[in-house]
Amino acid sequence: MLKKWLNESNYTVVFTGAGMSTESGLPDFRSSKGLWKQKDPSKIASTEALNDNVSEFIDFYRERVLGVKEYKPHKGHYILADWEKRGKIQSIITQNVDGFHQQAGSKQVAELHGTLQKLHCQSCGKVYSSEEYINQEYYCSCGGILRPSIILFGETLPRDAFQSALAETEKADLFIVLGSSLSVTPANQFPLIAKDNGAKLVIVNMEQTEFDYYADQVINEKEIGALLEELDK
Ligand code: APR
Repeated sequence: MLKKWLNESNYTVVFTGAGMSTESGLPDFRSSKGLWKQKDPSKIASTEALNDNVSEFIDFYRERVLGVKEYKPHKGHYILADWEKRGKIQSIITQNVDGFHQQAGSKQVAELHGTLQKLHCQSCGKVYSSEEYINQEYYCSCGGILRPSIILFGETLPRDAFQSALAETEKADLFIVLGSSLSVTPANQFPLIAKDNGAKLVIVNMEQTEFDYYADQVINEKEIGALLEELDK
């Protein structure tokens, strides 16, 4: 059905999670090998960790910055960018912070959870490249600590990304989730808003998600990369 809906739809929005980048070599969070199976996110991906647990915070995020520099977008990212060029899809909403959609050429990308490609000073807000972490530079010229420009648990989502994601979701007549357990609010509300707005909802995810019951189609027997290649043919 997804192939048919893709060809018939007027406004297709793709919503991606960490499962979109596991085939690039990056870990996801909640599958058996996920990051949150080894670490407690509240102790590491939170503003508390930034204040009370700085060295572990920096070590963890330096690892993740090294990961997004070492690994690259896979074929699936490039197919989505090509589909945007050909007008098959209109935009991407991503929870991912790896910047791989943009690297693969996608233009309309709303990064709900920010990006690991940049750092900013927790005190004065000055923006730096994440190369600073690679070079083990952790402090701003003002003395404040540098942290990745991602959304930590407890922080609010970037207003402009949230607004454009909402606008795109409300225009969608086909909303495709690729590789997300849909377990984090408010990002996981977008598939529901699309569905409530009359869109067809397709969830492509290896494991069951919290909103499978709500979807018009669930595809969980194929990896995202292979599925996109098959659809692209
Ligand atoms: N093909 C299909 N599904 C896959 C693949 C793949 N190649 N690889 C992983 N998956 C599935 C996993 O089974 C898992 O259910 O992708 C899903 C990823 O879910 P999560 O690990 O929970 O990641 P995500 O939904 O993106 O997490 C949302 O949580 O910690 C926060 O900010 C972080 O953006 C993240 C948010």
